[in-house]
Amino acid sequence: MPEPFFSRPSPKLVFGPGALKELPACVRDAGGSSVLLVTDRGLIRAGHAARATALLEAAGIPVALYDHAHENPTETDAATCRDFAREKKFDCFVALGGGSSMDTAKATNFLLTNGGAMRDYHGYGKAAKPMLPLIAIPTTAGTGSECQSYALVSRDDTHEKMACGDPKALARAAILDPELTATQPKSVAVLTGLDALAHALESAVTTKRNAISSVYSESAFRHLAAAIGNVIAGRASLDDRGHMMLGAALAGLAIENSMLGAAHATANPLTARHNVVHGHAIALMLPHVLRFNAADPATAAIYARFAALLPLSARPLDAWVAELVAASALPPLDASALDFTALAADATQQWTGKFNPRPLQAADFVALYRRAFGI
Ligand SMILES: [Fe+2]
Repeated sequence: MPEPFFSRPSPKLVFGPGALKELPACVRDAGGSSVLLVTDRGLIRAGHAARATALLEAAGIPVALYDHAHENPTETDAATCRDFAREKKFDCFVALGGGSSMDTAKATNFLLTNGGAMRDYHGYGKAAKPMLPLIAIPTTAGTGSECQSYALVSRDDTHEKMACGDPKALARAAILDPELTATQPKSVAVLTGLDALAHALESAVTTKRNAISSVYSESAFRHLAAAIGNVIAGRASLDDRGHMMLGAALAGLAIENSMLGAAHATANPLTARHNVVHGHAIALMLPHVLRFNAADPATAAIYARFAALLPLSARPLDAWVAELVAASALPPLDASALDFTALAADATQQWTGKFNPRPLQAADFVALYRRAFGI
C-alpha cells in the first residue's frame, strides 16, 4: 500500500522561451491591477526589470519598483521592504530574480498583510488574514522558491534560516522563461544548478516522500541530469537552460510535497556561521550525504533507479554527483576556521534534517563534515 499523503498545490506554471510576455495576463488572472515589483540591482542592470515593467505598463498596470533584494534576506531586510511597500499603492506582488527576490516578496507579503515580525511566521500556516497574490519569475534555475509556499528568512541575531510558510504565500503563477537565465554568471548557474539537483535527490528519499512528490523528484532529476553537465562545462544552450529551469521548478514542487534532508541540514550552518554560499555548501555536503543515506536499503534502491536514468552511466549516483562537483572546480574553503562540533550542534536543530531517511545524531553530522572537508 502506498504511503498516505495530502498533496500541496502548484502555482500555474507558464514555461517557455519568451514566457515573460505572459506577465500582464498572469497579474490580471490573479486579480491584480497594480504591482509591487521586487527585484535586485543585478536584474536592473541586466534589463529584465525594465522589460517586466514595460510589459505591465503597456497593459495599463502601474508598477512600483523595489530593487534592494539581496542574498539570504534577513528579518530586517523583510521589514525594510515592508516599510517601502506601505507607502505604495498596489494589489499584487511580482518577484523577479533568484531565491532572494522571491523570499523578500513573500516575507513582505506576510508582514504587510498580517503584521508582526517574520519570526511570528516561523513554521507553517500562521498567517490568519488573507495575503496578496504573488507572481514569481525566477532568473536562476535553482531554489525552486517559485513553487514553494515558504519564505526563507534569516534571523537578525543568529543568522539561522527560518522557513516561514503558509498556503497563501504560494505564488499564483510562476513564469519560467529560460531566456532570463542567459544573463547569470556561470558560477551562479553552476551553484544554483547543483542546489536544484540536491533538491531533486533529497526530496526523493525523505521520510515524507509520497506518490506525488516522487513524480516531481524524478521528473526534476531527469531534466537537471540532462543539462547540468553542459552548465558546468560552460556550454549551456537555451535548450539546456530550459531543462534546468523546469527541473528547478519541479524540484521546488518536490520539496513542497516532501521536504529536504541532511545535505541542507549540514549546509545551512556553513552559510549561517561562515557565509558559505548556499549552493557551494550543498555541493560540498551532497556526495557524502548520499553515501551516508545509501546504507538505508529503500533509499539505496531509489538512488539506483535514478542512476539508471543517467545518460552514459554505469556509475553509482554518489560517484556521478562527486564528479559533477569536482568538475565545478569550486574554490577551496579553509577548514581550519571551522568548528565541526558547533556546526553539528546547529545541524541537529535544522528542521530540514528531521526528514532525512536515516536519522542523524550530532556525531553523525560531525563525521559528515569531516568527510566533506577531508579531515
Ligand atoms: Fe537548497
